[in-house]
Amino acid sequence: MRKKMVVANWKMNFNVPESLVHFDKIALLAEDYDGVDVVVCPTFLALFGLWVRSKGRVKLGAQDCNSKDAGALTGEVSAAMLENVAEYVIVGHSERRKFFHETDAEVNRKVIASLKHGLKPIICIGETLNDKQEQRTDQVIRSQLDGALLAVQPDVVINTTIAYEPVWAIGSGQTPTATDLAKVIEIIHSQFDFMYGGDFQPSVLYGGSVDDNNVENFLAVEGVDGFLVGGASLNSKKFDTIIRKVKESGV
Ligand code: PGA
Repeated sequence: MRKKMVVANWKMNFNVPESLVHFDKIALLAEDYDGVDVVVCPTFLALFGLWVRSKGRVKLGAQDCNSKDAGALTGEVSAAMLENVAEYVIVGHSERRKFFHETDAEVNRKVIASLKHGLKPIICIGETLNDKQEQRTDQVIRSQLDGALLAVQPDVVINTTIAYEPVWAIGSGQTPTATDLAKVIEIIHSQFDFMYGGDFQPSVLYGGSVDDNNVENFLAVEGVDGFLVGGASLNSKKFDTIIRKVKESGV
């Protein structure tokens, strides 16, 4: 069985002092998170400070990166700059796709740049409500994977994680049924078999309105290796409960 993973996506929440306080609460509780990889993705500003105090118990991730190493790109942070202050990086989050018009091609460049700099990309994919209603989920998932992993070689693809986040489930309180989630996980595995000839299957996280009350529903679904948690990760008690339930689910 794969090691389970729980990732906190703090999005644009918590300034630096708040990030330190919140992180310390999680790190304190992390004493007994054995067997679960816990990753916190704070604002870029707090990454270095948290990296210095994390002592490896809780891992760190960035919420995005630019694919160029350096250059005249005001306000951007490159994958190269994240080397040594983050282990993971979220790429292709639906908020980036929606508000910053990120295409699959851009996501692919970010994946390649992160892998080149020793970061582990958490690649977000997921259908919109419209896609779902028009029964395009299968097609969307396959083409997002195909696009994000173009030219990503088998020796480095092993460092990627997939986060399935239906866009309509993010922050909405709505979640897929166990049957629908299981179906999408099967599609992801089948697309990886197609692309990598059965040599590699990634860890698959579910994300979208996961909280301390509903996490069991998703844990029961075959093939769910962990969670990408937004809103509920801003509350250390709720986040702790999610991790404990994952741990208890028998890793
Ligand atoms: P949510 O966000 O848990 O608040 O739905 C998840 C995400 O966007 O990664």
